[in-house]
Amino acid sequence: MANERASFGSKIGIIMASAGSAVGLGNIWRFPYLAGEDGGAAFILLYVICVLFLGIPVMVAEFLIGRRSKANTGQAYEVLAPGTQWKWVGLMGVLAAFLILGYYGVVAGWTLEYTVASVAGTFLGARDYTAYFNDFVSDPWWPVIYMFLFILMTHIIIVRGVKDGIERCSKVMMPMLFLILCVLVVCSLSLPGTAKGLTFLLKPDFSKITGKVVLDAMGQTFFSMSVGMGCMCTYASYFTKDANLMKTAGSVALINTCVAVLAGFVIFPAVFSVPGLSVDAGPGLLFVTLPNVFHLVFSGMPWLGYIFSLMFYVLLVLATLTSTISLHEVATAYLCERFKLGRTRAAWVVTGVCAALGVCCALSFGLLSDIRLWGMTLFTFSDFLTAKLMLPLGGMFIAIFTGWWLDRRVVREEVTNNGALDIPFFKFYVFLLKYVAPVSIAAIFIHELF
Ligand code: TRP
Repeated sequence: MANERASFGSKIGIIMASAGSAVGLGNIWRFPYLAGEDGGAAFILLYVICVLFLGIPVMVAEFLIGRRSKANTGQAYEVLAPGTQWKWVGLMGVLAAFLILGYYGVVAGWTLEYTVASVAGTFLGARDYTAYFNDFVSDPWWPVIYMFLFILMTHIIIVRGVKDGIERCSKVMMPMLFLILCVLVVCSLSLPGTAKGLTFLLKPDFSKITGKVVLDAMGQTFFSMSVGMGCMCTYASYFTKDANLMKTAGSVALINTCVAVLAGFVIFPAVFSVPGLSVDAGPGLLFVTLPNVFHLVFSGMPWLGYIFSLMFYVLLVLATLTSTISLHEVATAYLCERFKLGRTRAAWVVTGVCAALGVCCALSFGLLSDIRLWGMTLFTFSDFLTAKLMLPLGGMFIAIFTGWWLDRRVVREEVTNNGALDIPFFKFYVFLLKYVAPVSIAAIFIHELF
């Protein structure tokens, strides 16, 4: 890697690109449906605890591994720990990138279809939105076509490179997303189900906490922060020398959690306002409730509803896109640097493999719904395998690598930028990495899986 490595242009670009990776369907689609299934406030509380004690420390660890090695995650460990088995942690991350993008691309495709439907005015007027969603996802063609289109959009940005593709996109899309989300919260809080929705979100019922809920919260933490498979490691290899790793991780975690909670504020008042909707609707939750919100809130002013639903789905697409590019980049950077392929050629390989996986996951709602692995459809299985197994496991190894294996001097140099920054809680950070993260992840695993 003698040639000049790409890099992000500015500190704000670094935060926006990392937050762009973190904020996505995980916050707006996966978080609300898990919170709905797992009892609301109690789940959210667990999630926040996991963010503070697992998510942030592991994110900083990924950052420092990436920036120190200046390599994609598939090769970073060979740079920092040559000749050891640690390389498998990186390679597992690359594998996870393919698997996640495969099924994530399916839901990404749904957001694209809903954007098109908004343009066509499909969400104007009363309709059975549950039936609409079910008919769409079980169709043998459309979900596949939209999935493919979405991965292609991702491909186009990736080919443009790190600064002109990834960074530029994120800097425009993230602030827009945040703004529109705030407006939607205000709308949703004017619905009749607000009181019930807020109680569900804010008043924890501790009897709801079971082993499954804890595993869900931990998996969701890793998934929504994009940590555990080297995504942040690959991005950090493009960070500048003066970026403050702790502060960046803190900002990303804050933005990420705010977006998830705000998405909850949009969705739950709406769910409780529509008779017949249930909070534990699973993956369809977002796609069924939102059209209902637009219909209910704007029933007197349909044109406003039209503009609103369009804006929302466009922004959902954008938020998703900044996440899919980060997954794509992990795999593309690896193929590019490991096999000395051109960026465009490497990107095509990734696009092809992910699209093939995507087809299987997309069809698992209809044509292939009878194919089950341990009782799960291909879509649910991909989600389970990656979010609940590979990411926490990866996170555990990353914490052990950084806390136990890596020279403490290296960790300190990276976190303090060679002594230029004063990091008062450095010892506490190392303590979290050495003991808290590995032990708690292992404990949750052992309790839940055996
Ligand atoms: N964090 C993103 C979301 O919330 C998804 C994502 C992007 C991701 N990159 C990742 C998940 C890496 C796990 C690992 O939608």
